[in-house]
Amino acid sequence: MAAENSFSTDAIRAGYNSEDHFHAVNPPIYQTASFDLGDIDRTRRLWTGAEGGGIYSRVGNPTGAVLEERFAKLEGGKAAVALSSGMAAMTYTLLLLGQGGGNIVSGSSLYGAAMLALIKFLPKYGITTKFVEDRNNPAAYEALIDENTKAVYLESVSNPNAELYDIDAIAEVAHKHNVPVVVDNTVATPYLYRPFEHGADITVYSATKEINGHGNTIAGLVVEKGGFDYDEKKFPQFYEKEWKMRDLKDVPRSAVEFLPGAPVIASLKIFYTEFLGGALGSFESFLVLQGLSTLSVRLDKKNETAKKIVEFLESREEVEFVRHPYAKGSPYKALADRDFPKGPGALISFGFKGNREQEGIFIKSLKNFSYHVNIGDVRSLITNPPENTHTELEPKYHKLADIPKNLIRLSIGLEDAEDLIEDLKQAFEKAFA
Ligand SMILES: Cc1ncc(COP(=O)(O)O)c(C=O)c1O
Repeated sequence: MAAENSFSTDAIRAGYNSEDHFHAVNPPIYQTASFDLGDIDRTRRLWTGAEGGGIYSRVGNPTGAVLEERFAKLEGGKAAVALSSGMAAMTYTLLLLGQGGGNIVSGSSLYGAAMLALIKFLPKYGITTKFVEDRNNPAAYEALIDENTKAVYLESVSNPNAELYDIDAIAEVAHKHNVPVVVDNTVATPYLYRPFEHGADITVYSATKEINGHGNTIAGLVVEKGGFDYDEKKFPQFYEKEWKMRDLKDVPRSAVEFLPGAPVIASLKIFYTEFLGGALGSFESFLVLQGLSTLSVRLDKKNETAKKIVEFLESREEVEFVRHPYAKGSPYKALADRDFPKGPGALISFGFKGNREQEGIFIKSLKNFSYHVNIGDVRSLITNPPENTHTELEPKYHKLADIPKNLIRLSIGLEDAEDLIEDLKQAFEKAFA
């Protein structure tokens, strides 16, 4: 048997056979709304899933299929679906798990729109959220789980504070109550953190960030580990026989039969992209594949640079505190050492000691950091979360998520550390002149 390839090799090669694509070295961009079906027998095979291939790009396309297969391999999952944004990945997954109503038990330090989706959007569909205040304590998750809990949700590296959690222990309590664990692994990526090896059942991603890594497209991914035993009473959606999922003999099938081990991905592909749209376009899929091929080298450099930036920030009197697992006294250092052997990534937050006017001068004076809302770019980025990425949240949620008014977030890019440090230095000096 051939040896298993490493992560970096799979990031370049998995899920693609050039012979199936006119020997093109790069996965081609299938820029077409629909596909010739060939003949009526092939049509039948395509619609029943007996044969893979394009039908209509609202529900998927062959460029996206390469990304899905490659990413499922990298994550160590059974199957994946590529969607048009990270928010689609999150909301589709939770709408599906919460179908018919129920609650989500969620970590309380999340990306702003994700948090607001839980607070304001999902309740409109009968899905409420109980936020875990003591989010580092697995018992606090268990205390909120009840018979209507449909998922436990959290970010593996939280945005913006880079908090880490003992997901093994949280998954253990969730599984005790037969609740699947959904992890947003956007900041870490499967290169730095392996959610399925720590008990997660489903991962969701904004591939807009490190996965693509170049700040040039919006994309999302959902991956299912496979093997979670969905209780039929609690999750009837995976057991309903559907004509739309029928086999070649016209026998209706359920999601667990259509894609054994991956009923979530089956349902997202067959129903959600069909009715809500949102399959990732072929050009965007190509860009994500392109970015993904250099993920490991990008993150290796970013981990190194982030360490230096953390040390620099700690040396500055203009800085009230630094939040990163490698910051002095961080409560997350032990978890980083245990679960993030390559490093915990390049998201750093800090408290700015000056007033709002000085904060404005500081941000405006930077030349090597772009001021915007994104993270995980080749460029280094800076933002002020309370007025930006988390601005939609009421003050009580800022308090819950630990986002003080003076919080600044950095996403470290691929520039050299010395250039970034010099830039931060001169900006501090201007702001405090
Ligand atoms: C951790 C995290 N998850 C999800 C999202 C949403 O992703 P997208 O912007 O691709 O919809 C973001 C976006 O900033 C994020 O930071």
